[in-house]
Amino acid sequence: MAYWEEIQKRRTFAIVSHPDAGKTTLTEKLLLFGGAIHVAGAVKSNKIRKTATSDWMDIEKQRGISVATSVMAFDYAGHKINILDTPGHQDFAEDTFRTLTAVDSVIIVIDIAKGVEAQTRKLMEVCRMRKTPVIVFVNKLDREGKDPFDLLDEIEEELHVNVRPLSWPIDMGTRFRGVYNIYEKKLDLYTPSKQYLTESIAFTNVQSPELESHIGASLSGKLRADLELIEGVYPPFDIPTYLCGDIAPVFFGSALNNFGVKELLDCFIRIAPSPRPVQALERVVQPEEESFGGFVFKIHANMDPNHRSCIAFVKICSGRFERNVPYKHVRFGKWMRFSSPTAFMAQKKETVDEAFAGDIIGLPDTGNFKIGDTLTSGEDLHFKGLPSFSPEMFKYIENADPMKAKQLNKGIEQLMDEGVAQLFTKQFDGRKIIGTVGQLQFEVIQYRLLHEYGAQCKWEPVGLHKACWIESGNAVMLDNFKKRKMQYMALDKEGRDVYLADSAYVLTMAQQDFPDIRFHFSSEF
Ligand code: G4P
Repeated sequence: MAYWEEIQKRRTFAIVSHPDAGKTTLTEKLLLFGGAIHVAGAVKSNKIRKTATSDWMDIEKQRGISVATSVMAFDYAGHKINILDTPGHQDFAEDTFRTLTAVDSVIIVIDIAKGVEAQTRKLMEVCRMRKTPVIVFVNKLDREGKDPFDLLDEIEEELHVNVRPLSWPIDMGTRFRGVYNIYEKKLDLYTPSKQYLTESIAFTNVQSPELESHIGASLSGKLRADLELIEGVYPPFDIPTYLCGDIAPVFFGSALNNFGVKELLDCFIRIAPSPRPVQALERVVQPEEESFGGFVFKIHANMDPNHRSCIAFVKICSGRFERNVPYKHVRFGKWMRFSSPTAFMAQKKETVDEAFAGDIIGLPDTGNFKIGDTLTSGEDLHFKGLPSFSPEMFKYIENADPMKAKQLNKGIEQLMDEGVAQLFTKQFDGRKIIGTVGQLQFEVIQYRLLHEYGAQCKWEPVGLHKACWIESGNAVMLDNFKKRKMQYMALDKEGRDVYLADSAYVLTMAQQDFPDIRFHFSSEF
């Protein structure tokens, strides 16, 4: 197959949702369609198997959550689909944000009863920032939920994105009769007793009296009125607008009952983007370029606790990656070759000889990589778009075993390179502060420091509100600020100036008193 055709047929995306909206169930149904798994329940049982084989993940096993981000690939209708799984637990939101930097589009799952929830809002913010095209799947139509029009208003208001329904539900809960597929002009009927798609009827004219024979007079009247309203209120669906991230098509269905999922997938492969150009510091990199370029967006640690081995997940942005061919590790300026790169087909990892732009490969690593590192065929490229966000929680990290100070420092450094949390070193007294999104990360760090590095740490409280990356064109003001806030100035792991604001009030005052200083809540600005 021609090289560019390989790239064109790839669809790399993530399914995201607030926990329990149905992300795992939807992923599993998509894998079933792709023939990648054959039994329902396989996705969940894999999660359990994975946790059982990796020691430090005992923490997640106890809590029944999945910390790991993995990739599931399969072929469907002439396309190569790469689904990037994201941890559902909100304490690992940073992991999810980074995964979103490696996808070309996103499917957001929303529970019809719960509507837009906190985690969905945050994830959508990241998609908006990156202009990632988004499709919304409204799930659990077999249950009672919100009025679909109200829900669409809520999505527009809360997620700040225009929507366009491409399917429309015919009632819901125990009365759920199916959906009208606006995109393909088909009537998809749902039979409660059978719980799967029973009939899909081409139906170009909903005014036809035949509609009554399928769903009865009252629902027919309602569907016609709803569709008329949709045509009147929402703009026609336009693929380029979707690809710019300005409009999100919406589908309705029930993942658990495998209803509306195939329709979603069929539309997805038609409209979702193939690998998109990626912005590097130096220039825009096109996927079809011949030379290879990719970046590390995730480091999956310690598959085997006896060896400090990791897998670095690399998103290929351009060209073709080949096994045993030397590539440049741009940060080190050194050439490396990889004898056992892995790809992820369905739920299996296997060694691959080549992979193309859009694909994710896993490179076994013994500490050479950190998040954001670039590999290329030789060009010095630095891919943008892997910002650190201001953490929500902060604690001092202290050494609890004076004999193991070296191990502790090494452990902290490597865990931060993996992106487990963020380290801020205070400029005033050199004390180290760890910033996380949630409490669970502190436990993971403590556990891993002990089990992988033999180091013991203890946490001490520090009352902080936000970490702000600061910059200014006014050097005098910047200098004054740093002097005034000496006790609250820190360096992040790249050595950038960070102001640690101890309260929202103090931060507002600082912003007023120092108008020429810009305060950023993410490290990329
Ligand atoms: P998540 O990955 O987004 O956290 O959600 P997940 O797929 O695990 O789904 C959360 C719960 O919602 C599961 O029930 C799942 O079966 C259910 N669910 C998913 N899709 C639908 C749907 O279309 N209709 C209905 N009625 N339920 C749905 P659970 O009881 O928590 O888990 P399980 O015991 O079924 O595995």
